[in-house]
Amino acid sequence: MMRATPLIPLSAILHFVLIHLIVVSPSRAVCGSYSSFSRVAHDPLSDGPLRLPYMRPPEECRTFNSSSVESVISNITTRMKDKDLARLFENTFPNTLDTTIKWFDENLTFVVTGDIDAEWLRDSSNQFKAYLPLVGKDLALRNLTRGVINLQARYITMYPYCNAFQPPPESGLQPQCCSGDVGASISPPDDMKFVWTCGYELDSLLSFLQLSRLYYEYSKDESLFTYDDHLWFKAVEAIFEVLKEQSTSTFDSTGRVISYYNISGPNQGYMRNAGRGPPKRNIGMVGTTYRPSDDVVIFPYNIPHQAMLVVEMNGLRSLLRKIGARPDLQFLAQRRARIVESAIWKYGIVNHPDWGEVFAYEVDGYGGAVIQDDANVPSLIALPYIGFVPNTDPLYHNTRRMLLSSDGNPYFASGPVIRGIGGPHIDEAHPWPMGLISEVITGDDEKEILEILEMLKNTTSGLGLIHESVHTHNSRDYTRSWFAWANSYFSEAILYLAKEMPYLLFEDGKPFQLEDL
Ligand SMILES: *[C@@H]1O[C@H](CO)[C@@H](O)[C@H](O)[C@H]1NC(C)=O
Ligand SMILES: *[C@@H]1O[C@H](CO)[C@@H](O)[C@H](O)[C@H]1NC(C)=O
Ligand SMILES: *[C@@H]1O[C@H](CO)[C@@H](O)[C@H](O)[C@H]1NC(C)=O
Ligand SMILES: *[C@@H]1O[C@H](CO)[C@@H](O)[C@H](O)[C@H]1NC(C)=O
Ligand SMILES: *[C@@H]1O[C@H](CO)[C@@H](O)[C@H](O)[C@H]1NC(C)=O
Ligand SMILES: *[C@@H]1O[C@H](CO)[C@@H](O)[C@H](O)[C@H]1NC(C)=O
Repeated sequence: MMRATPLIPLSAILHFVLIHLIVVSPSRAVCGSYSSFSRVAHDPLSDGPLRLPYMRPPEECRTFNSSSVESVISNITTRMKDKDLARLFENTFPNTLDTTIKWFDENLTFVVTGDIDAEWLRDSSNQFKAYLPLVGKDLALRNLTRGVINLQARYITMYPYCNAFQPPPESGLQPQCCSGDVGASISPPDDMKFVWTCGYELDSLLSFLQLSRLYYEYSKDESLFTYDDHLWFKAVEAIFEVLKEQSTSTFDSTGRVISYYNISGPNQGYMRNAGRGPPKRNIGMVGTTYRPSDDVVIFPYNIPHQAMLVVEMNGLRSLLRKIGARPDLQFLAQRRARIVESAIWKYGIVNHPDWGEVFAYEVDGYGGAVIQDDANVPSLIALPYIGFVPNTDPLYHNTRRMLLSSDGNPYFASGPVIRGIGGPHIDEAHPWPMGLISEVITGDDEKEILEILEMLKNTTSGLGLIHESVHTHNSRDYTRSWFAWANSYFSEAILYLAKEMPYLLFEDGKPFQLEDL
């Protein structure tokens, strides 16, 4: 039985009052942890039937303010027909600037993934992609973006095999302890002051090249290349070294195992062959140890990685030509693009008994191939978004048909709540909104695009942000309430539609381009 209140000591009541006061005080409580903030719905609610909450932190808690980003939000949301979709855009587009810029100065920017307090090369590049068209005119945002690339260049130069990093010493922030996975190529091996985790993922390096290329395209800012004694070029050289090492066969000509990278730590158990991963034969492709989901590969030649490699090597070559730099690197980039591209056409395609010719997800050069997709970008479904093939390409079309069928793709799951591509990172019953976003950006069927937007809106668990994964049969069963890359990617899809199919979104049907702002 509950006793009467007088038995509760006064100190406990005071304690309760204090806690309560702290919790309801908007700025303090919220600035403390967006992780908690993102798990609870906040007012005001949208005018649409879903009544989606407003999930931007209070102004004084935002980690970066950008007037051009505010103008985009206001232009897009005032014109959108669907008020719930508008709210989702309003919450997601600024999410990286609002919540993840942990520290910056005039040269360096440290940006965390969201709920994981470290900087991933891949995530940080993708988190900024939606803002890039604005850096032509918005100089503060330009500086912030250049700072992301400068810091990535430093990390890559120091630890080209690692994927996630600690804050730079200049920030005065304490390194957080880490995943415990140590790649053998870390030197010294235990240098967790800089490294958060050392999974070797080819696309992490490529995402640095992609961000650099797009940054230059929109800003024409060459100071990126001279900063810190031409650090950017040192990072590019380090990348070429990795490409060379990871394109060799596992066995040398005398039959000995060559190991440039292996992992020890909690994930080593998943990684066969003393942490070195599955063997590969040199067929011109470049191996990776992890997928974009941070899961270990089944076979080392991940085809979406190869496709991105071809695009970014060609992109690097034309970037270097434009700035008139390093003919030697231009030559290497062009040669690498050619070799990998012809290897994709020769070894990356499978003649499937049910589906005909399709892209494999991973191969090993011995004839082994994995048929599936994994929702993180780069993925097979996103090949046109990566820039490798147009969405009208017949081979892509055929592959897409297979990937979007539960008969064709073991990681396509479907239920009353959500259907789409997922991956083993969570499990086979949790499709990823990011996979659906890729469908939107690469799709041409308007009816299907509108259906997917409905699904994305419906599966935020009422929280108005994009989750990592959602269960097919239970909308409350989701992972990651604060996943900045997924938020940025969703807003990229909306901006893509605003430009290419504005009549789907806007009352007035007029297109919107960030560059025009
Ligand atoms: C953003 O602007 C608000 C006031 O509008 C201010 O309180 C906050 O400190 C600013 N944030 C940054 C990172 O400058
Ligand atoms: C939105 O931007 C477009 C240009 O892209 C401009 O024509 C239009 O007037 C703007 N609308 C609003 C409501 O700001
Ligand atoms: C951007 O950086 C440049 C070079 O460091 C500096 O001169 C300029 O004042 C900065 N501009 C803004 C708006 O931060
Ligand atoms: C930023 O970089 C410039 C050029 O390399 C340098 O002169 C300046 O001192 C740096 N600023 C800080 C805060 O480190
Ligand atoms: C792991 O890689 C390092 C560095 O390349 C190498 O020296 C070492 O022999 C490798 N270890 C194993 C078990 O393969
Ligand atoms: C979204 O939710 C609404 C309301 O609960 C429902 O009517 C609609 O069928 C759902 N749409 C999809 C695509 O799940």
